[in-house]
Amino acid sequence: MTVANILIVDDDESMRIACAQTLEEAGYRVQAVDNGYTALEKINRESFDVVLLDLKMPGISGIEVLKTLKQRERGVAVIVITGYATIDLAVQAGRLGVSDFLSKPFTPEELISAVEKSVNAKRHELEDSCIGIALEAQQNSVDVIVGQSEAIRKVMLLIKQVAPMDSTVLITGETGSGKELAARTLHRLSRRRDQPFVVVDCGSLVESLFESELFGHTKGSFTGATDTTKGKFEMAHGGTLFLDEIANISINMQARLLRVVQEQEIFKVGSPLTKKVDVRIISATNRDLLKEISMNTFRLDLYYRLNVVQIHIPPLRERAEDIPLLAEYFFKRLRKTMKKRVSRISDQAMGLLRTYDWPGNARELKNVIERAIVVCEADELGPEHLLLGETPGFARSPETGGGSLADSEKNEILRVLKECKGNKTLAANILGINRKTLREKLQKYSISFDE
Ligand SMILES: Nc1ncnc2c1ncn2[C@@H]1O[C@H](COP(=O)(O)OP(=O)(O)OP(=O)(O)O)[C@@H](O)[C@H]1O
Ligand SMILES: [Mg+2]
Repeated sequence: MTVANILIVDDDESMRIACAQTLEEAGYRVQAVDNGYTALEKINRESFDVVLLDLKMPGISGIEVLKTLKQRERGVAVIVITGYATIDLAVQAGRLGVSDFLSKPFTPEELISAVEKSVNAKRHELEDSCIGIALEAQQNSVDVIVGQSEAIRKVMLLIKQVAPMDSTVLITGETGSGKELAARTLHRLSRRRDQPFVVVDCGSLVESLFESELFGHTKGSFTGATDTTKGKFEMAHGGTLFLDEIANISINMQARLLRVVQEQEIFKVGSPLTKKVDVRIISATNRDLLKEISMNTFRLDLYYRLNVVQIHIPPLRERAEDIPLLAEYFFKRLRKTMKKRVSRISDQAMGLLRTYDWPGNARELKNVIERAIVVCEADELGPEHLLLGETPGFARSPETGGGSLADSEKNEILRVLKECKGNKTLAANILGINRKTLREKLQKYSISFDE
């Protein structure tokens, strides 16, 4: 168990010192500040388990600190220190939701017992969600879902609840928000964990190779099919099939996918027999499928099949309290693998990271930290090492849909043409299109290829 992190906010110096000493001796990590402003700054950058808050302070009052705290970090436990003159304030505070009250004067034992109670209550609440996942992952040194915001905790809780069931899950969220991580976590916490987790990048599936890719083919079933192969469904047998970027497959492919999802039965290309497969399907998309459905680019019946349980991962800018944690997490991991000496992220740099709006979400944050570590020769990562908003590929709206599908089609054609040493008849055969279509596509993508 990690040591609980405690923040004392009190303008009375002797009180601060006495409380800090008592709690430190009891084994807690303690920081103390003498005003509300510094308290909010600290809370912005760091996560605390318990905040010990005096209500009567000059400047920003305890009540204001409490309001802000509750808005931003609902998970934190707040113990309010009340004096004689603060009964009204205490009532107000009670309405805002606090874990406990300590009325002055109090003994060291009373202080420790109040803190212990709050820490334990918080731990119990968390145990159901993230800690379980984190511990399990630590033991196996896998990637974990990091975060403490209420939003991400809800996601973790849902993952824990859904994982052991075999239900089909649709994961939605912006690019880089952690959809694949969520899918892998679902698999890891399921009874299928020792079976394969197979990823299908739907964005790179070419119409003509769709069936062979997903269901496999038998030897000689088409020109170029020199061996009998297993498709992704068969590879995932007993495990989980992750259909990434599900909105990127054509209506035609959706119809064929629907049949398999319904029947859990595949037809190998070139084989008259069907084969039963046992796979759990998790799909992901960064598009709004309901909008796609209204534009007739996504099938409603397939949507119903895939969207039995939906897990939505909120964008990072809507859970800013996760930014410092994630930044530290990426920083520690990357520093280790890159073997750099840099020891910490400066407060200023952390401030910048916190206020940036992260259109590329966690992945962008990871990239920014990685690049900062590369260029940093100092002991501390400063604002000068951060290149925010300049990462290519993190433009806000993924509305230019279809782009990646076209790209992958072009790449696939190039790949096959290369394999066939430019023989267009053979390439067209393997791609499952006729020569005329191939010629049109070559023109469309301005590919010139000498036979
Ligand atoms: N909450 C989190 N805690 C720790 N790491 C995270 C978290 N969210 C995302 N990451 C990391 O950020 C990176 C991007 O996440 P991931 O690939 O799962 O995103 P995605 O939603 O699938 O992105 P895309 O839409 O671009 O495919 C990965 O390295 C992942 O491990
Ligand atoms: Mg992904």
